[in-house]
Amino acid sequence: MPNIVVVGAQWGDEGKGKVVDVITPHVNVVARYQGGNNAGHTVVVGREKYVLHSIPSGILHAGCRCVIGCGVVIDPGSLIDEMESLVRRGVTLDGNLFISRNAHLIMPYHPALDLASEAKLGARAIGTTGKGVGPAYVDKAARVGIRMADLLDERLFREKLEINIQQKNRLLRDIYDAQTFTVEEILSPYLRYAGWLAPYITDTALLLTKWLDSGYSLLFEGAQGTMLDVDHGTYPYITSSSTTSGGAATGTGVPPTRIDGVLGVAKAYTTRVGGGPFPSEMKGAMEEAIRARGNEYGATTGRPRRCGWFDAVVLRYAVRINGMDTVALTKLDVLDQLETVKVCTGYRYRGEILTEFPEEETVVKEAEPVYEELSGWMAPTGGAKNESDLPAKARRYLDRLEELIGVPFCLISTGAVRDDTIVCEGSPLLRWFPSVRASLL
Ligand code: IMP
Repeated sequence: MPNIVVVGAQWGDEGKGKVVDVITPHVNVVARYQGGNNAGHTVVVGREKYVLHSIPSGILHAGCRCVIGCGVVIDPGSLIDEMESLVRRGVTLDGNLFISRNAHLIMPYHPALDLASEAKLGARAIGTTGKGVGPAYVDKAARVGIRMADLLDERLFREKLEINIQQKNRLLRDIYDAQTFTVEEILSPYLRYAGWLAPYITDTALLLTKWLDSGYSLLFEGAQGTMLDVDHGTYPYITSSSTTSGGAATGTGVPPTRIDGVLGVAKAYTTRVGGGPFPSEMKGAMEEAIRARGNEYGATTGRPRRCGWFDAVVLRYAVRINGMDTVALTKLDVLDQLETVKVCTGYRYRGEILTEFPEEETVVKEAEPVYEELSGWMAPTGGAKNESDLPAKARRYLDRLEELIGVPFCLISTGAVRDDTIVCEGSPLLRWFPSVRASLL
């Protein structure tokens, strides 16, 4: 049974939630490996819409086991809210949800530091979600972080909290002129959270290995996207975790030798939330039209997303960095009404044409997009079951994108619901999960 990583190929919000939801019936386990409640994975099941932040979207499928791996940072209050809201809607968590003992906690001082640090950065602000994700990873790397397992040991938790409060209060007061915290005001709610979460906290790396040994199939669910990766993204305008496929191994404890394939998810255009370079960004009326038609507002913060044309340079880079075997293309329908569609095929930089994504911050900032224009199809694509059902000009657009990115598409999504999904012939997805097509008919 194959173990596959699903990873965002752009700046997040590619529609990974829907793709994971389509594949989940064919696997036994879904594991999140990085990020925190900065993510917002939207899944529409029938008439019901779910937005998941920390829990893998696999939880919406009865019997699917879901793991929050050690690479994730967890805000326990927000996780419990998410759990309660799922239980209210009839989702069973007991026996289906497992949380790593080694996952780090987002503490109340982390969002405070996140917001205070952003305010100080001025024009170089990252535009974070303000959830404290970056500062929680700072503590993890600085070896002062508090882990899920610590929450279960009151004495140890208090000891670590006291050390942190001393240090963080100095930072908050003296550097940022911001609100400080007391040990007691954090201790009591966090010990209450411990009582709630204890039954779900376990050695998930061991559990996953045992499941794999017994023949289970695992889907690794990435959050955010390649261009927000702490190493490979548009640093410093990134999130603080390894969003790319390599993170799947370190963020779960499953060795890379047990990963069989990587599926990238990309929108038929591009979006980005927050600050930072975005070479194929649209401006004016076109951006507004795409934002309105694609409902491009952050699932976590409600912020309007910046919109741009499909950037083949970014995609080729994402294919290379992640080792993508195939790409699921989402939201094709958002382009249905356009007379022409543009594709960015390279960047012009100081008289040169770059076809590989540049790593230097200043080059990316100055890079001007080189576009190829294709004729729009001006016809609906929603409801198509096969690529051959699509308008000829839409097929031409897809063919050109495939040619530019160098790997085949496996799914084309033309709407929010599961039914609006085309499974592409001969793609690696059908090799991994031959019954995907039948399950969508
Ligand atoms: P942080 O992850 O909250 O620290 O934010 C860092 C950057 O990543 C900001 O530009 C955010 O807008 C972006 N970001 C974080 N999570 C997501 C996501 O789930 N989708 C899209 N962008 C995100």
